[in-house]
Amino acid sequence: MILKSTFFVVLNFVAVVLLAQTTPWEVPADRSAKLSTAAFTDQNRNTGKDLYQTNCKSCHGDPGKNNVIKLVPPPPDPATTQLQQNSDGSLHYKISEGRGAMPAFKNIMSSADIWNVISYLRSYNKDYRQLLAVKPAYGGEVFDKVDLKLTADPTHNAIVAQLTGLKGSLVKPIAGLEVKLFAKRYFGNLMVDKPMDTDTEGKALFSYPKNLPGDASGKVSLIAQLSNEELFGLVRTESTMAIGLPTDRPPLNEPRALWNVVQKTPIWLLVTYLASVLIVWGFIVLALLKLRAIFKLGE
Ligand code: HEC
Repeated sequence: MILKSTFFVVLNFVAVVLLAQTTPWEVPADRSAKLSTAAFTDQNRNTGKDLYQTNCKSCHGDPGKNNVIKLVPPPPDPATTQLQQNSDGSLHYKISEGRGAMPAFKNIMSSADIWNVISYLRSYNKDYRQLLAVKPAYGGEVFDKVDLKLTADPTHNAIVAQLTGLKGSLVKPIAGLEVKLFAKRYFGNLMVDKPMDTDTEGKALFSYPKNLPGDASGKVSLIAQLSNEELFGLVRTESTMAIGLPTDRPPLNEPRALWNVVQKTPIWLLVTYLASVLIVWGFIVLALLKLRAIFKLGE
């Protein structure tokens, strides 16, 4: 009886270990087919190498040396076929989402940096040839520079973000891309309205609440940003506009030092401070004088 149950316990254990090692890591089809829009260059690889050293090496070891940390299932060495057989998109998905002991990196690294790490991982696969994603064509256009501009329309409580692409002397509106708008705050930024897509004129229209708090003169610092960083890199603009409610609350980070910003120190505080300093020194001098008198008496 005891023998029988021990046998089942052992069998169970073996099954758990085997299952943990063989459960395939499912990647959604649209994610595994994903490709990088940027070519893997030496610069990408070097950035990826630095990121690998700080974020991955502690578990996955030095590529090709098989000095991985002991975990179940084990983190594969990047130079092995187990890791290299993944498509670029599958690697991106697995690094972004994580599983079990493998951490999710989507909130730690930007998507572009995950591609940089992948370009480093691929340098340990001599058969690898990169396939590039076809850039989404905006009228087949590739731009030298992409620009975001903010304008306010206070009568309609609206902010307009205009997205344009510049190519030589040509300026073209870019349609169909998501823009996010934030109001700058001391701790993190406040999202204004929901993310909006640009229309055929390249304009994204945001509405803001009438009671949006501003500084003492009602100014609000706004930040607009393209949601997708993979298309054109980080496209972002900042602009200060008088659209908020004047709020006369001293900012938390305003300098309040005693001496360097004298106008901010109340007179009573200066007088009290000086008086207490004088009193303390007065007592010290008095004590020294008395000591001298004692010495004099001793002689
Ligand atoms: C805390 C340890 C740990 C860290 C840190 C870590 N990994 Fe992992 N990784 C694992 C483990 C464990 C697995 C196996 C997970 C599984 O199969 O369930 C794994 C699996 C993977 C896989 C999937 C391999 C396969 O079999 O398809 C990839 C790709 C990967 N890691 C890349 C990375 C990269 C890139 C980094 C750094 C950005 C990183 N890992 C950081 C532990 C780690």
